[in-house]
Amino acid sequence: MRDVENREDIDLLMREFYSRAMVDERIGYLFTEVAHLDLDVHLPVIGDFWESMLFRTGDYGRHGRNPLQVHMALHMLEPLKREHFDRWLEIFHAVIDENFAGPYAETLRERSVFMANRMLNFCAGVPALEIRH
Ligand code: HEM
Repeated sequence: MRDVENREDIDLLMREFYSRAMVDERIGYLFTEVAHLDLDVHLPVIGDFWESMLFRTGDYGRHGRNPLQVHMALHMLEPLKREHFDRWLEIFHAVIDENFAGPYAETLRERSVFMANRMLNFCAGVPALEIRH
C-alpha cells in the first residue's frame, strides 16, 4: 500500500471520511442536524487544512479560520463529548488505514489525535449550557 502523496489523496480520504461520518449512528447528526454541513463548501477548506499540515502547500490560512473556534461554535450548539471525538477518530483512522500506509499516513493519524485532544480540552473548558428540567 502506498503513502499519502498529494492533494488528490487527501481529497479522497476526506470524501470517504465524510461519507461515513455523516451517516454514522453516533456522530452523524452533529454534521447533518446540528451543523447542516454543506460538503461542497466544507471539503475544499478541510482539504486546505490537511494539505497545509502535511505538505505545507495548502493555504488554510487564507480562510482566516481557526478549527478550535469552529468546533467551539459547534459545541455551543450541541455539547461535543469525549465519545464523539473517540468515534470521529475511529472512522478517520479506519479510512486512512484502508487506503494508505507510510510516514504521511502516520502523521495524519498523529495530528488528528493531537487536534482531537486540543478540541476536547478547549470545549471542556467552556461547558455548553444544557437544558435543565
Ligand atoms: C466530535 C468530533 C467532531 C465533529 C462533530 C466535527 C464536526 C465538524 C463540522 C460540523 C465542521 C464544519 C463547521 C462549519 O464549517 O460550520 C468541522 C470543521 C472542521 N473540522 Fe471537525 N469535527 C470533529 C472533530 C474534528 C477533529 C478531531 C479534527 C482534526 C483536525 C477536525 C477537523 C476539522 C477541520 C480542519 C475543519 C474545518 C475548519 C474550518 O472550517 O475552517 N474536526 N468539523
